[in-house]
Amino acid sequence: MGRLEGTRAIVTGAGSGIGRAVAQRFTAEGAQVLGVVRNPRDVKLLEAEGIAVIIGDVADYETAHRAVETAAVRFGGLDVYVANAGLWDFSKRVEKQSPGELKAGFDEIFGVNLLGALYGAHAALPRLRDSGGSVIVTGSNACFRAGGGGALYTASKFALRGMVMQLAKEFAPVRVNGVAPGATNTGLSGPSAFGQQDRAMNLDAVRMSAMADHMLLGRISQPEEHCGLYVTLASKTESSYVTGAMLLSDGGLTISV
Ligand SMILES: NC(=O)c1ccc[n+]([C@@H]2O[C@H](COP(=O)([O-])OP(=O)(O)OC[C@H]3O[C@@H](n4cnc5c(N)ncnc54)[C@H](O)[C@@H]3O)[C@@H](O)[C@H]2O)c1
Repeated sequence: MGRLEGTRAIVTGAGSGIGRAVAQRFTAEGAQVLGVVRNPRDVKLLEAEGIAVIIGDVADYETAHRAVETAAVRFGGLDVYVANAGLWDFSKRVEKQSPGELKAGFDEIFGVNLLGALYGAHAALPRLRDSGGSVIVTGSNACFRAGGGGALYTASKFALRGMVMQLAKEFAPVRVNGVAPGATNTGLSGPSAFGQQDRAMNLDAVRMSAMADHMLLGRISQPEEHCGLYVTLASKTESSYVTGAMLLSDGGLTISV
């Protein structure tokens, strides 16, 4: 018997990286999962693994609404909304951005990392109230410290942590929590405003090696290593008294600098 039998979940950014690992692990634990992906090429792969899929941009409210309605029709309700989709900024320094880039980069990064999560939480709330479910966001070590990205990424993740705390107050008894990974072996990309839409973090071996040096555990993590915390937060029995929390899964980075 899996730890999430009977759980009905939505995972955004399910086509790759941490979101894909979470969607696969939830499925293995007995959950029914609807993945939200940006790229049509990810649909077949997920469907072959028993994961339902919709395509959409999380920065549009319509995507969150459609995801929740699709889960309600296919699964008969919703227990967990995982707002995981995200964009990095490859630590692009503010002084290297024109005012126009700053504005477009802000809109894109905050549109996905913060507004996308807020839209998801908003659209899911009535169903989560019905089921006694919860919201989980993917934070970052950048929710707690500088240096995990540039100003836009760091500000978006600090804001996301603030959002989790405030929504935990507003939504209770619906629980609202986050998992905050440290450097992870994924192809995390950036905003098109910076021309970073086709860049992948883990293709930069020098950067990945420098990141590994900062970790207390001395290495970068794999996406699967964070999944246990998502399962625990998604479970109605294993974390029933946890809300407003941002659980670190960062190899000790945050306490070591
Ligand atoms: N990789 C790391 O080192 C790391 C560290 C801390 C936090 N995170 C966070 O983990 C989360 C997942 O990132 P990842 O590392 O797995 O990288 P990833 O690029 O594999 O996953 C991000 C996913 O979000 C999707 N996405 C981006 N913009 C979207 C949009 N507008 N609408 C719908 N989907 C969109 C992408 O298509 C992708 O599938 C992000 O929130 C990221 O900030 C990653």
